[in-house]
Parts: sequence; structure tokens; C-alpha cells
Amino acid sequence: MTSRRLTAWISIALLRCTSGLLNITFINDLDVDCSLFWHGTNAGPRKDFGPVPRGGGRKLLEVAEGHLFTFARAGTLFPLLRITIDPESRSYVINEDNAASSSAACAASTADATPGSLGCSAAEACDECVQLPGCGWSTVRHGCVAAHAVATNRTCLERAEEERSAEQWLQLAETLMDPEASEFAGLASLRAAFEALENGRRVAESAESGRRSNGTLKSILRWQAEVRPKLEAVLDDLDAERLIATSRHASLASLKPRMVARRKLADAMDFISRAEPVVITDFFDGNLSHPIVQKWTLEYLRRFMHGGFYNVAADAARACCQYYEPRRIAAEAGYPYPFRPRTHLYRDHFEGFVGTLRESPSETEPRLHYLHDILMERDAAPVVAGEAATPQIAADLEEMVTALKPLAKMQPFFGGVANAKLWIGQKGVTMPLHYDSSDNLYVMAWGRKRAILADPGQYDALYPYPNAHPLAGSSQVNLSNPDLARHPGFVDVLLSETVVGPGDVLYLPGYWWHQFEQPFEDTASVNLWSYELSDAPPASMRDERIRGSALHDHMEREMVKAFKSKAGVVLSAMASGSGTHKKAWARANRTLHEAAQEWRRWMASLPNVADTAEPSELVKDFLQRYRGILAQRWPGWAPGVEWNLSEMTALEARLQARCEPAPKTATYASVCRWPQSR
Ligand SMILES: *[C@@H]1O[C@H](CO)[C@@H](O)[C@H](O)[C@H]1NC(C)=O
Ligand SMILES: *[C@@H]1O[C@H](CO)[C@@H](O)[C@H](O)[C@H]1NC(C)=O
Ligand SMILES: *[C@@H]1O[C@H](CO)[C@@H](O)[C@H](O)[C@H]1NC(C)=O
Ligand SMILES: *[C@@H]1O[C@H](CO)[C@@H](O)[C@H](O)[C@H]1NC(C)=O
Ligand SMILES: *[C@@H]1O[C@H](CO)[C@@H](O)[C@H](O)[C@H]1NC(C)=O
Ligand SMILES: *[C@@H]1O[C@H](CO)[C@@H](O)[C@H](O)[C@H]1NC(C)=O
Ligand SMILES: *[C@@H]1O[C@H](CO)[C@@H](O)[C@H](O)[C@H]1NC(C)=O
Repeated sequence: MTSRRLTAWISIALLRCTSGLLNITFINDLDVDCSLFWHGTNAGPRKDFGPVPRGGGRKLLEVAEGHLFTFARAGTLFPLLRITIDPESRSYVINEDNAASSSAACAASTADATPGSLGCSAAEACDECVQLPGCGWSTVRHGCVAAHAVATNRTCLERAEEERSAEQWLQLAETLMDPEASEFAGLASLRAAFEALENGRRVAESAESGRRSNGTLKSILRWQAEVRPKLEAVLDDLDAERLIATSRHASLASLKPRMVARRKLADAMDFISRAEPVVITDFFDGNLSHPIVQKWTLEYLRRFMHGGFYNVAADAARACCQYYEPRRIAAEAGYPYPFRPRTHLYRDHFEGFVGTLRESPSETEPRLHYLHDILMERDAAPVVAGEAATPQIAADLEEMVTALKPLAKMQPFFGGVANAKLWIGQKGVTMPLHYDSSDNLYVMAWGRKRAILADPGQYDALYPYPNAHPLAGSSQVNLSNPDLARHPGFVDVLLSETVVGPGDVLYLPGYWWHQFEQPFEDTASVNLWSYELSDAPPASMRDERIRGSALHDHMEREMVKAFKSKAGVVLSAMASGSGTHKKAWARANRTLHEAAQEWRRWMASLPNVADTAEPSELVKDFLQRYRGILAQRWPGWAPGVEWNLSEMTALEARLQARCEPAPKTATYASVCRWPQSR
């Protein structure tokens, strides 16, 4: 009985083309028929190939990259065996997860397999969907997906038979999503509002409605664009895999990034206590009273944020946005590095920023905007962008901290909540690869973000900017277009990837490199940084991956402290053995030896660390290595040159009309006056 199998053979030769006919032989030696269906990459309509008869069968299928197909027990949608076409490895992947039980389930008369999103997406209507255990209907994807607390509802909203004009549908939607209305019930209201907008759109787009509806249609589409990302989520592991695969930079495919684990809370604890990244998928399930997940929309924040100034960055698509150290610090250090910022950092009122997002959607503007500001100060004082939070936002933030603190406490050296930051940005924004030293919990308010992570250390593969550079802590490698001639070590980098959506929590340990991108839609997120216990050992001592380069980083940092803008000149001269002032040389030699000596003392305090070499050896190693990396470490280096702002992205005319250049030593380039009242 157990020898009975359901198998597929795929002609590998035919996989060499990314699209074409695939000759598949199915063998089904079960004593029941199984059916076969497949899905396109965009979870397009189901295509049924009917039963695979007992004893085998042969089918020619037209397939393309990323196509998935599934066997299910005949007459059901329960997936039994999944096959993914992966042209990269020129092979196919059979998901064996359910394979063992599959055969049995296929043969069994009662189907008890748990359907994933594949099984669900085979249902074509809401009524059919909610009959399937574990499936829910998504208002925004118009499809049946794995039940997800944020993205789906087990109740099919009444298809409106009633006659309403587009304006009336719009009015109904605006009432439903009004965050100040007493009936406002978070996601349930937003889902109902989205449906009302759909109805309104249908009416407005119908031929007979004519010119009258154009203004209404515009409002409907704008509200839909705002609500849609709130109701999107990462549905399950398969959905995550698909999103990652379809949005991956071509340049990273050959590096074969791993997928960050997605786990339920109970299984995620281990990851947190080991300081390994993990996406917790069920943190908000069963309790949707959390305001950030449940209620925060752009409109909600517009009503409740205070009128102070918020930091915003603007830059071209795919280059937005880099964050750099303020000019004041650079000026004080004598401009250690010639820098030509492209990202335009400016400050605006929240209302003004909301106007920018609504009036310059990413589809029509080549320029993207990204708001990023501190939401909370150490030990959770609700201070937003430097001013006391409004009561509503203060209450929301307190709830967030209350909810996340048990997770944060699992972090190995948790000392307390350091602060929180709000990030709101347009589709297309990329925050380039960098690392922070604090543990981080990341929650999406709306939209899905893609994250590319790299294990701590890896300095040789990732070419961080030097200390004192305005982009210190960031990698010089552009992940969408790595320059292997300049950064050959990049081929050895170890990457992992994930997508996080509303309802997920990403735990991102300190020192993990991360690049956040939003290729799918506009997003907003809040992250919570922790500080460590005051007697926690430094990370470089706890983590061998960092230790190797930490000495060199320490030496360089001490040199920058001692020589400010001249550190690079002195280091280059020492490393290459070319002449420099005797006095400077002696002082640099002393600085490096002292740094090495200090390092030895730290190392000596560690258990299980072999004897560290003599300081003179360490200094020699450092200078030798420095010689090798000099060209990448300080490219085009020339100290004492003021930043050249001529390449900075110009704000659009609408913003220029109310924004003016900031003082030269400000941390931002422009500041915007209060916008015209709406
Ligand atoms: C498909 O494979 C079978 C078995 O190898 C072969 O007999 C048949 O000709 C193939 N069909 C096509 C169109 O390649
Ligand atoms: C699903 O939608 C219905 C109709 O809007 C609503 O009454 C119900 O509370 C929703 N359920 C959940 C879990 O959101
Ligand atoms: C309404 O908008 C559509 C498309 O946006 C346009 O083709 C049409 O000309 C507009 N109608 C009027 C009367 O403005
Ligand atoms: C990274 O490379 C992409 C693709 O070539 C380019 O569009 C983008 O501007 C680059 N980013 C930066 C910060 O230079
Ligand atoms: C749900 O979450 C809210 C906010 O974090 C909290 O106040 C409430 O106690 C939670 N309820 C349950 C049943 O867990
Ligand atoms: C550098 O400093 C060390 C320790 O103070 C000393 O032993 C060494 O001679 C110095 N080297 C040079 C070239 O000055
Ligand atoms: C800034 O750079 C531009 C070229 O990108 C150059 O034309 C201009 O002279 C520079 N300005 C200064 C003050 O160096």
C-alpha cells in the first residue's frame, strides 16, 4: 500500500528555454485518480488538466519561469505534490513536504491535508473559497488565499446588487474608512471600504456614466491606492518565495541567497535567543486590536500626527535613498571626505508630506520620497520628530511597546527599548545595504517590504565605507548593479532574503547587514531598536564573525579620531611606505600601537581566545592589509574639500515653491513651509 506513488518526470532538456512546451510524464499508480492544475507566476487563473488516470498519463504543457503546478486529489483542491520550474538551476523542484502523506491522502477517502495558498488559489469565487478549510478571500487580490488575519476575511461581503452612483459608493467608502467615526473597526472597515470603492469604480468606468464621474473616479483610484497596501500581506511561505523570486535583482541570482526563516511565534523564540533573523508570521493573529496593524493608514496618520517637522529624503527611483552624516559633523572634522550627495534630505510638515505622496504618485514622478523620523525616545517616551506625540499616537505607541516587549526580552542582552522609527515611502524606494549595532523588531503598518540580509562581518565581501565617511556603516556595493571589477570579493558574500508584510514581525539582530526595498507598493513601517545591558560584552567579543575585522575597524577609528580629515592621507602614506612628516608618522605609529594594545587586553579577557599576536605584529598586519584595500577603502579621497551639492536631486516644482535651502551647517538641505491649507 505504501509503495503506491504519484510521480512526475520532466524532460530536463526542454527546461533550457525559459518558456516553451514541456514534456511531462505523470505516473499515478494509486488506485484513485488525481487531478492536476497549475498556476502562472502571477497566480493567474487556474488551469485544470483534469484527472491523471491510474497507471500514468502524458501531457504537454506550456510553461515559463517560476510556474508552479500542483497535483490534487481528484475533485478537491488539496495540494499533494508541488512542482516549481526553476530555469536558473535548469531543474525542477518537487516539494516533498507533503509527498509522503500525499500518496496516502490521495488514496484516502477523506481529505484532511492542510491546503497552502496553492490549494486555496484554485477556488474561483468567495463562496467556494470560504468552504475550504484554511482559506480566506482577499478583497484586494480578488482571490482565495491561505487564511491570513490581515489580508483575508472568512465572510464574503455582500455583492452589492443595490443601485448606487459612483459618488454614493465613494461617500460610503469615505464613511467606512474614517478613522474618527465611532463605527470605525480597523481592517474590517477598510476591507468593506475597499469593496465599496470597487463598486464605485465599476460604475464610474461603465460607458454610460460619462464625464460627470471622472473626478469621482480619480478620488476612488486614489483611495484604493492608499487602502490596497494596508490589506496586502505575505500569505504564507510559498507566497513569500514567489514574491522574493519575482522581485530578485538579476545580479543576485547566481549568489543563491537563502530565505530567511518564517516561523510561528512558538518556533521563533529560538531564533531570537540565538540572535538570528526570523520573520514571525502569527504575532498579530487572533488579536487584531493592535493599532499599527489594524488602523494606521496615511489618512489616519494625517489626522493624528502633530504639526512639527519630519525628516524626508528624496531621490531618483532605484537610488532613493541614502542617509548620510550631517554636514555639521563633516564641517567640524574638516571635511574628511569629498562627498557629492544625490539624495536630497529635507524637512516638511506631515500634512505637506501626505500632499506629496498623494499628488506625486510613484507612477508619474521619477522622484521618490521617504519619510523617516524618530517616534519614541529611550524607555518609550512618546516623542515624535522631536515633539510630544499627540494623545492618539502616544497611546498607539505604548500599545506597540507593550505588545513587542516580550519578544524584545528574548534578545540575548536586552537592556530596554532604545527608540522607534517611522518609515513611510513610495513604491520603488531602496534603503541601501548597511548595518546597525542594535537589535531591531520591524512591524509593517501597510505594504510589503523586501529585505536582503547578510551575516555580520563580511567586510571583505561588502566593502564598507571607511570610518568618518558620511556613509560609514554602509556597503559600497550596489546590489542591483555590483561592480565586480572594483569589488571582486562580493562573489563570496552570503545573503538571505525575505519579504515582510502587515501582520509579520521581522527580528533583525544587530550587525546584520540589511537592504530594505519596496518593489510592490507604497509602505509604512515602524521599527523598535533595543539597547543592551550595560555590562553586556561588546558584540565583537561575542561574535567571531565580527571579531576578525573589528581590530582593523578599531584601528582605523582611532586614526580618524586622532587625525580627522587627514586620517586617510596618513594611513595611505604609512601603508604604501611613502614619505610623510616625521612627527605625524610617530604619532600615527603610537596611535596604532595603543589601539592594538587595547585590543589585546580585550581579547585576553575572553574565554577560549588563543593568544593574540604582539602589537607590532598587529600593526604590521593592519598596514599590509590596508595597502591591499586602499583603492576601494577611500576611493577618490581628497580631504578638506567641502561637499559639492550640485548633483543633489532637485525637489519637484510644487515643493520648490514652498521649500527653501537650509543653513549650511543644518543636518538637511531644505526646509518646507506649512503647505497651503487644503
Ligand atoms: C515526449 O516524451 C515522450 C517520451 O519520452 C516521447 O515519446 C514524445 O515524443 C515526446 N513528445 C514531444 C513533443 O517531445
Ligand atoms: C469579516 O467581514 C465582515 C463583514 O465586513 C465583518 O463583519 C467581520 O468582522 C470580518 N471578520 C474579520 C475577522 O475581520
Ligand atoms: C474621462 O477620463 C477618461 C480617461 O481618464 C478620458 O478618456 C475621457 O476623455 C474623460 N472624459 C471627459 C468628458 O473628460
Ligand atoms: C545602483 O544601480 C542601479 C542600477 O544600475 C542604479 O539605477 C542606481 O542609481 C544605483 N544606485 C546608486 C545609489 O548609485
Ligand atoms: C490584544 O492586543 C492589545 C494591544 O496590544 C492588548 O491590549 C490586548 O490585551 C490584547 N488582547 C488579547 C486577548 O491578547
Ligand atoms: C612604533 O611604535 C612602537 C611602539 O611604541 C615602537 O616600538 C616602534 O619602534 C615604532 N616604529 C616606528 C617606525 O617609529
Ligand atoms: C561641483 O561639481 C560640479 C560637477 O559635478 C562642478 O561643475 C562644480 O564646479 C563643482 N563645484 C565646486 C564648488 O567644486
